Amino acid sequence: MTITVVAPAKINLHLEVLGLRPDGYHELAMVMQTLDLADRLLCTPTADGRITLVCDAPGLSTGGDNLVVRAAELLRRRAALPELGARIELGKRIPIGAGLAGGSSDGAATLVGLNALWGCGFGAADLLAMAAELGSDMPFCLEGGTRLCFGRGERLEPALPPAGDGLPASEQAVGVRPGLGVLLIKHPQASVSTPWAFGRCRELRGDFYLERESDFEQRRQALRQGPLVAALASGAALPPLRNDLQAVVEPEVASVGEGLRLLRQAPQVLAVAMSGSGPSLFALFADAAAATAAHGRLAADLAAAGFEAWCCRCRAGGASLETSGTTP
Ligand code: C5P
Repeated sequence: MTITVVAPAKINLHLEVLGLRPDGYHELAMVMQTLDLADRLLCTPTADGRITLVCDAPGLSTGGDNLVVRAAELLRRRAALPELGARIELGKRIPIGAGLAGGSSDGAATLVGLNALWGCGFGAADLLAMAAELGSDMPFCLEGGTRLCFGRGERLEPALPPAGDGLPASEQAVGVRPGLGVLLIKHPQASVSTPWAFGRCRELRGDFYLERESDFEQRRQALRQGPLVAALASGAALPPLRNDLQAVVEPEVASVGEGLRLLRQAPQVLAVAMSGSGPSLFALFADAAAATAAHGRLAADLAAAGFEAWCCRCRAGGASLETSGTTP
């Protein structure tokens, strides 16, 4: 038996660095959004007790440092079934090292896929706890949709009230603003290390970091009740998006400033920002058709500047078993 798991990318609609935590991580306030740009994992059980990862992206490690392998090993340890094995074929479509949580989403998809394939029987709360051990973004990658993410990024809250009854489950979500189109770009030669970006942020802004939990909570509340969440819920005009790491990365990675400048020229663009620690950049549009039209208008300039581009949409839901009708 082989099962297929879909591992969608995410973008950050808001990334605010609040301060430093006792564990050395940064305390964050974010809004994350799942895209319908996704990797796929084909998982097949084996009887040899080995976890084997093969991948169609040259240069991506398939060893014990890959989050797919780490997730499979953690799940097997927690299930206390060391004899279980699996072969996982990873089809990459999400750009690597881009701030789109491709690696985290692959790891989250591995938890979902092997939990089903091996019949481990872990519930959603167990998988979320394992995901949080493996990476700060990984719980979001399991849940997906539009979420407020606090703490290291692993504390999730719905950003929007659930949509009304009567909609298909895939759209009922805790919210995706229906139809939001996305033009995503990345320079293939640019990559940013997340630890470097946070380290540089600390050097530049550390004196201004908040320290008290009450101050963190005040910022969380400002985000919950602020204009971005209100606009996502109501369909009103989006405010400018905030990513504190953008100001850190932009002076160091030439393509970031250039790409933002190009995206801001797109017709009918609603908002533009860097995702995560970059260097991928995105522009939002009212629907997929507007994103595609903007891509058409900018294609020559983007290609001349060396950018790769993808048109996609915001979607509900995170890493999930592929069934007909849920394929992005
Ligand atoms: O949790 P994860 O392994 O994805 O984080 C990668 C790195 O990013 C961490 O080692 C840390 O340097 C940085 N980070 C941080 N604060 C966070 C999340 C990540 O400083 N909230």
